[in-house]
Amino acid sequence: MSIETIKIFDTTLRDGEQSPGASMNTEEKIQIAMQLEKLGVDIIEAGFAAASPGDFDAISKIAQRVTKSTVCSLARATDADVKAAGEAIAQAKMKRIHTFIATSSLHMEYKLKMTPDEVIKRAVRAVQYAREFVDDVEFSCEDAGRSDIGFMKEISDAVIEAGATTINLPDTVGFRLPFEIGQMVKIMSEYTKDRAIISVHNHNDLGLGVANSLEAVMNGARQVECTINGLGERAGNAALEEIVMALKTRKDVFTNFKTNINTKEIYPSSRLIATITGIEPQPNKAIVGKNAFAHESGIHQDGMLKNRETYEIISPADIGLDMEDTLVLGKHSGRAAFKDKLAKLGFTLEDVALNNSFERFKILADKKKNIYDDDLRALVTNEMTNAPKIYELISLQLMDFSNGTPSAVVKIKKENEEIIDAGIGEGTIDAIFKTIDRISGYEGKLLDYKVNSVSKGKDALANVTVKVAFNDTEPAIIGHGLHIDTMLASARAYIGALNSYLSMAGMLKKRYCDSNETV
Ligand code: KIV
Ligand code: ZN
Repeated sequence: MSIETIKIFDTTLRDGEQSPGASMNTEEKIQIAMQLEKLGVDIIEAGFAAASPGDFDAISKIAQRVTKSTVCSLARATDADVKAAGEAIAQAKMKRIHTFIATSSLHMEYKLKMTPDEVIKRAVRAVQYAREFVDDVEFSCEDAGRSDIGFMKEISDAVIEAGATTINLPDTVGFRLPFEIGQMVKIMSEYTKDRAIISVHNHNDLGLGVANSLEAVMNGARQVECTINGLGERAGNAALEEIVMALKTRKDVFTNFKTNINTKEIYPSSRLIATITGIEPQPNKAIVGKNAFAHESGIHQDGMLKNRETYEIISPADIGLDMEDTLVLGKHSGRAAFKDKLAKLGFTLEDVALNNSFERFKILADKKKNIYDDDLRALVTNEMTNAPKIYELISLQLMDFSNGTPSAVVKIKKENEEIIDAGIGEGTIDAIFKTIDRISGYEGKLLDYKVNSVSKGKDALANVTVKVAFNDTEPAIIGHGLHIDTMLASARAYIGALNSYLSMAGMLKKRYCDSNETV
């Protein structure tokens, strides 16, 4: 029997970015896209071009850089959206437009206020127009999980006739159970036969996203839409790493299937996305959680020592995780060793980025005794995804956190000018951020603040993530700061958010805000 390839459609940069607090700057999106290409995903949904000029810009830059994966943009079934998608991906080597409209009675009646016939007409027009830009068009029946199967057959006939080559059946609200998804996919794939590829896109509201995706594969789906770390709207999407590792580990069941994923890039991809979004997978998350390969009980440890297979169904090495957690480099390591180590971790840096990263490594090595792989990953990711340094922190002095009024003295460089100011606050962080506001003249509203330790030890690097709104009518911005001193990392994170905001000035406004139909 011939082996069939299950296409992996990654939507971390689109549905994943719709996770609360997961918005990214353009440089961060480019780095993620490059990593997804290395991971071997077949299709990268790089964003939703019509959403904002910032989304459009990021998609077109990704389209210029990625060559081995198809680059895709989402588009509602309107001419304006399809045109924006077509133009954003124009320079991609392989490109796809993904257009959608809701097909459940609930959505058609209440959200769209359209009849089923009108919905079919809109879908057909969108697909025909998309074909003017690309040969590869995907059509999604939004809320397929709650749509009438007869209507989905009808609209699929119409859009296939109009030129769609993939029909996606999203369980938009994560409502269905595996056997129900299996039935839906079986009926639809037997109906469309080789006229189109059937795809699934399962949300995780009942924690069934992955199970539903695997059941779909068993029943005829040949494309699965998913995200790294299961990011996504509300409870997220089916996690790429879980689907791929289930297909690989249970080869005895999924005998005739393969994916193009290089599983050794799973762990680096997971770390990159967690570092950039500041959203850490829960420790017990399958495959990529911190505890996924930790054996705590004595009985388990004893079994593992005798034969790893007693308690381990996947080797950490298969997902690119080095369990030795080796001490990688020290302060006497030279540039060549540094470059070599980065190459082993999968980073190929151009000269300027390499020099800057090496400088930062040297400073860190002076302060931190042991530098681990995860420290290097975080340091380099931080360097590569920095927005232009419009403001740069020079120094920070803090006073009296115990009984008096917390105060901060902050020195910042803007272009060639150094500006110093002092301020007070309700707490230390408040004092730091308010002083930065006074210097920059931008008043940020802090919506979220998180600290994660990058590796281990009392001198561990702190990775601070802040979410700041600088303007009530624009989306909040994420900033990151990395330092062994948490207060310095916090100041850097806040300034990072400000730099991202200023570098995307005028590009953040959501275009679909005034439309009655949002994604
Ligand atoms: O969940 C969903 O229905 C979607 C579509 C836009 C594919 O994300
Ligand atoms: Zn979705």
